[in-house]
Amino acid sequence: MAVRLYEGKDHAEAYLQFRVAPQELIGVIVRYMEKRTKTFRLAVDVGCGSGQGTTLLAPFFAEVVGTDISPAQLEQVSADGGPSNVSYRQCPAEELPFGSGAVDLVTAMTAAHWFDRERFLQEADRVLRPGGCLALLSYTMDMELEYGDVSEALNDICNEFYAALFPYRNPHIGSSSVKIYADMFDSCPYPDKEWNECLRIKRTVPLSGYVGMVETFSSYQVLKDKDPAEAERLSSHFRNKLLAAMKTSSPDTEVTMVVKYFYWLARKP
Ligand SMILES: C[S@@+](CC[C@H](N)C(=O)[O-])C[C@H]1O[C@@H](n2cnc3c(N)ncnc32)[C@H](O)[C@@H]1O
Repeated sequence: MAVRLYEGKDHAEAYLQFRVAPQELIGVIVRYMEKRTKTFRLAVDVGCGSGQGTTLLAPFFAEVVGTDISPAQLEQVSADGGPSNVSYRQCPAEELPFGSGAVDLVTAMTAAHWFDRERFLQEADRVLRPGGCLALLSYTMDMELEYGDVSEALNDICNEFYAALFPYRNPHIGSSSVKIYADMFDSCPYPDKEWNECLRIKRTVPLSGYVGMVETFSSYQVLKDKDPAEAERLSSHFRNKLLAAMKTSSPDTEVTMVVKYFYWLARKP
């Protein structure tokens, strides 16, 4: 069964503002494909949200289509529509509006854990042409911060923040996203496939950007729906603790945020 948690306008806006687009991983996917094919006609980014990852595929494919089940997320797609070869469709990941064998690349970026995974893998297999590729990527919740000589202290505080949100994690994703993707990888019957458990992607962001990113987590959103005052209190508490450890009062102070991506790639025979 798939789960729908991305229907709120505020959540979609925060998502667009704070999430990290995985530029480095697009390079990994394209290089994987280049070793195996010359055909870069159609890429489909499933669970595309507001299209931050989708548009990164535009330079490499004749056509890119982002699909998502949430109208609120799709409404955040940039007003000018972004690159001219990118378009969007509202549909479930398990019922993609493409003919059998029509697609060169199916991606899902930080999204496949929400899908009905078995049905999605069958649907991806249906739409991929022989020789087409599947790329699933996501990141762990335990993002790290680097700042001067207090990085360790900051990470202890971050870990407390994640632990406070853990009880609000949706049961559909269980306690480990890595395990979900590892299980999907194991169930993929394509012989040519690769698993990578940790690619550290770094971004310089204001501390408020890090806190904003954590607030986009589905667990924070669950708490916010249940008890908005407690969600706000928790977020301010941890922001203030981080600022105190950094010996600054400005949430605009820049930190390095380390996001630990994991991914798998596979080529349909
Ligand atoms: C965490 S967001 C990731 C968005 C985007 N790929 C990114 O990296 O920023 C997960 C997205 O998956 C979508 N989603 C969840 N279940 C879905 C389903 N069954 N079919 C299609 N989209 C789905 C949500 O609406 C949401 O936009």
